[in-house]
Amino acid sequence: MNLCVLGAQWGDEGKGKIVDLLTPQFDIVARYQGGHNAGHTVYVDGRKFVLHLIPSGILHPGVICIIGNGVVVDPRALFDEVDELAAHGIDVAGRLLVSDKAHVILPYHRELEVLAEARRGERKIGTTSRGIGPAYEDKIGRRGVRIGDLADQSPDGTLASAVRENVAARNHAVGDAAMQWEQVLADLRKVWPRLEPLVADTSLYLYKAMACGQRVMFEGAQGTLLDIDHGTYPFVTSSNAVAGGAATGLGIGPRSIQSVLGVAKAYATRVGEGPFPTELTGAMGERLRETGQEYGASTGRPRRCGWYDAVAVRYAVRVNGLDALAITKLDVLDGLDDLQICTAYRLGGKEIAELPADTAQLAACEPVYETIAGWRQPTRGVTRFAELPREAQRYIRRLEEISGVPAAIVSTGSDRGHTIVRDDSIAAEWFGARVPVK
Ligand code: GDP
Ligand code: IMO
Ligand code: MG
Repeated sequence: MNLCVLGAQWGDEGKGKIVDLLTPQFDIVARYQGGHNAGHTVYVDGRKFVLHLIPSGILHPGVICIIGNGVVVDPRALFDEVDELAAHGIDVAGRLLVSDKAHVILPYHRELEVLAEARRGERKIGTTSRGIGPAYEDKIGRRGVRIGDLADQSPDGTLASAVRENVAARNHAVGDAAMQWEQVLADLRKVWPRLEPLVADTSLYLYKAMACGQRVMFEGAQGTLLDIDHGTYPFVTSSNAVAGGAATGLGIGPRSIQSVLGVAKAYATRVGEGPFPTELTGAMGERLRETGQEYGASTGRPRRCGWYDAVAVRYAVRVNGLDALAITKLDVLDGLDDLQICTAYRLGGKEIAELPADTAQLAACEPVYETIAGWRQPTRGVTRFAELPREAQRYIRRLEEISGVPAAIVSTGSDRGHTIVRDDSIAAEWFGARVPVK
């Protein structure tokens, strides 16, 4: 069964760990959106890897990794990542494919993003400064440069004229003429010899692979509440992080996405600006940040922390058609007397059960909390549900009830082994016969 793994909150839910854990059950892992704004952390035997553009399946030999057409690719960031993996003895040759239709992040996209953020002043989004937004703007504006275009070596062909026009637009926007299009073109041409062996029609590759019975995992970046359409607009990223994005971002039919797993922390975090109803700004927020080491995997920025927001997760269940959740970082809640779960919002004196589309309204929402007892015994590293403290079991069961889907996986630490796989859940289908006997 193919599987889409995506973020059910505001990103950084632990997708990297879950994708890595599930990879041995799949032949191919494919990223469908975002770019190197993502930071997916995987620990293997105590060694830490942070994947940005390359799918988190790459650490497993023999697995094919695909960067789909929906991703925006900064070639330099891609090769930095390839080199870093090589330095750890991981060779991507023959295992990494990049779609010829993926758009290229050009050197000035980052600069335009920084300018746009400065212009917004107080209303800034808090972007990652990777050039993601401006690259998608050029794509939607139908003036972008695609990976396959980089093959064009002619002095006055499509690539040369696209770069000339785009650099002219950049110079106009920035108000100087400092950037020379000839230089940008020459730099782009330099990356082609190294890029060329990776470039493929990845939609066709997936089509043929699936026709032969190969199993594919689709890896989302960011999270549902950061989705350009379904997130807390405008405090979102510029792509479709939801499950539907896997179809458009890889050129596959929607029925190929046979199951969908939403990754959610046992609490909530957000990096950057934008509404976050359950945010804890006091000592409890600090406690979650320090215990959970909530600092951005890409930018190092401190993450805002808060209680589990079941309104937001229920919304993620709906817009993604989630079959199940993977609840991560349960261990971070160890030792707390009481926990709060946000079950609804209060807005203008009324209780509401759904996320309002209007961001100002969402910002005005007060969480309605249900209190549940915490636990004293550590859960870190626990691998069987029955071995969790009774209160932790109750907490997970309540999250399942209130979110509307089962927690097929519960993560109790950052290591591969620190995981509970519920073998009476849909996870049994992903793990096939290999579910550890409990
Ligand atoms: P992603 O972007 O969704 O892949 O998540 P990140 O890698 O940005 O952030 C998740 C962080 O939590 C990483 O540092 C992981 O190593 C860590 N992590 C994942 N699962 C667990 C868990 O169950 N417990 C703890 N303590 N850390 C975890
Ligand atoms: P992973 O895949 C958390 C946030 C930024 C900002 C907003 C827009 O690791 O979960 P962008 O640079 O994308 O235009 O920034 O989105 N953001 C993320 N937050 N995890 C991520 O990725 C993120 N990628 C972008 O902080 O608020
Ligand atoms: Mg991350």
